[in-house]
Order: sequence, then structure tokens, then C-alpha cells
Amino acid sequence: MTKDNNTVEPSAANALWGGRFDGAPSSIMEAINASIGVDKRMAAQDLAGSSAHAAMLCACGIISADDETAIQAGLKQVGEEIKAGEFAFSAALEDIHMNIEARLTDLIGEPAGRLHTARSRNDQVATDLRLWLRGALYDVDALLAGFQKALLTLAEAEAETIMPGFTHLQSAQPVSFGHHMLAYVEMTHRDRGRFADAQRRLNESPLGAAALAGTAYPIDRDMTAKALGFDRPMRNSLDAVSARDFALEFLSAASICAVHLSRLAEELVVWTSAGFAFVSLSDQFSTGSSIMPQKRNPDAAELVRAKTGRIVGDLNALLMVMKGLPLAYSKDMQEDKEPVFDAYDALCLSLSAMTGMMADLGVNRAALADAAGAAFSTATDLADWLVREAGVPFREAHHITGQIVKLAEKQGITLSELSLNDMQSISPRVNKAVYAVLTPLASATSRTSFGGTSPINVKDQIKFWKENLS
Ligand code: ARG
Repeated sequence: MTKDNNTVEPSAANALWGGRFDGAPSSIMEAINASIGVDKRMAAQDLAGSSAHAAMLCACGIISADDETAIQAGLKQVGEEIKAGEFAFSAALEDIHMNIEARLTDLIGEPAGRLHTARSRNDQVATDLRLWLRGALYDVDALLAGFQKALLTLAEAEAETIMPGFTHLQSAQPVSFGHHMLAYVEMTHRDRGRFADAQRRLNESPLGAAALAGTAYPIDRDMTAKALGFDRPMRNSLDAVSARDFALEFLSAASICAVHLSRLAEELVVWTSAGFAFVSLSDQFSTGSSIMPQKRNPDAAELVRAKTGRIVGDLNALLMVMKGLPLAYSKDMQEDKEPVFDAYDALCLSLSAMTGMMADLGVNRAALADAAGAAFSTATDLADWLVREAGVPFREAHHITGQIVKLAEKQGITLSELSLNDMQSISPRVNKAVYAVLTPLASATSRTSFGGTSPINVKDQIKFWKENLS
């Protein structure tokens, strides 16, 4: 560490809190302390909070109407400067709160100094982040709805397309491609529910909790809560400034949602590979290789898969920040915004990319049909036929079918290609009617139990979602 870096500037102490200081902070102190690079994203929320606070201070007789008028005009101008990109953010002023207040002071002078009455940056920052996240959650919900629509369109077009259903990524039983898509509609529906819960729970106002203990000024917290669209003021001032579970809830829901996207992304990676060739991505969502001219790579799907690690990392980062903090505010909590913003950005981009990929996905019906019939995928149907038509107990039917599969495997053919003689050599109870249940289409079509994969069910589910997706 060089001496230069530690030099204390002879300049004046911080204008906003420097009363008890003689010198300015070291440049290293400034670097570790500043959050403006991150929290300037909450400028609009900070201005809205200040505007509501000033109106309340005036209504409660704590500041004069003239001061309030000056403050509102100044805040408006600051907002315009920020929007126009003309605002000079300063690391020396630490964060968005002090940057805005300092500029307000430049613009309107003394009245600016009355804005911070009965308020602290502690309740201010908690208010800003709640407001920011409340807005962000509308964006996430809209993107999820768009993604669901793309899945639903695909499900409708491919309700009767039969593909292999997998367990252990081994061919298990034929399923409808539409059914597979609707599984993701279900998952993302629950994701939307989790985000909505988080949004509902976070909508309480910390403003007026001040530093941690409330204030002796006769403030009206209901008034600021209402002005900012919060349902009510938070009941406990200590909790109001120190709670970050609202951010953790967002990150948790984002992590689960990202894991869902990642599973579909993984399927796209597998399904687009030559060994499967189930689907193809459009040119818009494929990339080439700089060395191998034949390549079409699913980079977007791979990156969605990778961004999941990043989003879950953001959740872990904030959990670790919070785990040892005594009440109430600690500066550690300044590190809450970066993971929240990062997860939001990564999730929004992932949702957009997944929606784009699914919206113009090419479905290779022939390859899906071939694969659906391969690997003895209708063996369960054969066993079920023995139970249903020949009264064989399921365990015995399972054993007989296993022997029939072994025979077909030995001959290198599918179950429906095996001769009746061969089947009867294993069980005389088999007759030629069995062939009707051995095609993948018959198998999937027969699964009409509620929630099952038969195309009829899938169409009912599509109807359900069309009526219920908002
Ligand atoms: N930039 C700070 C944060 O994000 C604002 C609150 C600062 N409060 C304090 N007591 N230093 O947490």
C-alpha cells in the first residue's frame, strides 16, 4: 500500500456529516465507503421519498410552506438533471442520498438543509430499495407472463407431437411435447406467485423510523406511506431500518425461477445437439464457431444456465452479509443493492432470451417420433395390457414384459416389430390385440388420468391457461 493512497487530503471534512471532523477521509476510506456507483440506480425512488417527506414535514408544521415549495422545485430540477444525464455524481458524497441533497443545497440553499429533519439515511435507503424492488417486480412479472405465452403457443402447436419422456435422462414413456412445455408454465406460474408474495410483503414504509428509534418530531408516517403507495408504515423502527428479508425474498424467488429457466436451458442444449436433434434454435438465437464452419451453438441457453449460478450467488452474498448483523443498521447493509440489481438484470435478460428462443423454436417432429418409439418406451403399456386384458398381477406382468424386452433387444428390433410367436414364447396370454398399445401415440393417448399426458388432456390444460394467464 503506497503512502500516497493513505494521504489525508487537507480539504474540508465532509459537508454533510463533517461537523465533528477536522480532516477529510483517506481516498481508501472514500473508495470503500462510496456506493454511488451502484445506488444511483435508485435516484428516482430517492427523489420520490424526499418529496413525500417534505410534503409531510410541511403538513405537520415542521417546515414552512415556503421551504417546502423550494424543496419540491429543487427536487424536480435534480430529477431533470439526472434524467438528462447532466448530473455529476460524486464518490466523495458517498451515496445517492447525499449526492442529491448536496445538489439540492447548491440549487436552493438553506431550505435544503431542512429536508433531512426527522429522517436518517437509514430509513431513507430502506425506503428507496423497497420502492425500487416493488417496481422491478412488475417488470419481472411482465417478462414471466411473456415467457409463459411463448410456451403456451408452442404447447398448442405441438399438443399432438409425441416425444420420449425421460427419467434419469433415459427414455421412459412417450409424452406430448405440449405437455412438456406446460410443465414449465406450471413452474413459472408458481414463480410469479412467489414474486407477487414478496412484492405484497415488502410494501410497508420504513420512512420515519429515522436512524433506528423513531423521532421526537410530530411526523405523520401514514401520510408518507400513503404518498409512496405503501400499504402502511412499518410498526417497529428497529425492524424498519434493519430488515432486508424483503430483498432476500426477491433473491430467493429469483434463484428458484432461474433454476427453472436453467433446466429448460439445459434441455435446449441437449435437444439441439446432433445426438438428439429434437429442436433447432433460429438464427436469431444461435451462434457460430470461429473455427468450425458447420457449428450452430446454443450460447444463449448456456448463458441462461450459467447466469443461474450468478443469481444464486447473489442470494448467498446477501444471506452472508446479513447473518451476523446485530440490530439495527450496520454499514454492511450497503452491500445489499449490488446483488439485488445484479440478480434483477441477469434474470430479466435470461427471461427475455428464453422467451426469444422458445418463440421461434424449430420442432423436429420426425426425430421426436423416432426417439419416442425407441428404447422400448412402450414396455409399461405392454405390462398394463397384460394386467388389463389378461388379468395378470402387475408384478408378474412387469417380469414377463422384461423378458419380452430382452428378446426384442437381442433381435435388435422394437417391441412392435417382435413377432407374436416370439411374444407368446414368453407368455401364451399375449395375443395380437397387444400391438394396438405398443405405438408411442397410443401410449401417450391412453394416459388420460388427471394431469396425464394424453393430447386431449393437454388441450384442456391449454384452454385452462388461456383463460387464466394474465
Ligand atoms: N449508502 C448507505 C446504504 O446503502 C445509506 C445508509 C447510510 N447510513 C449510515 N448510517 N451510514 O446503506
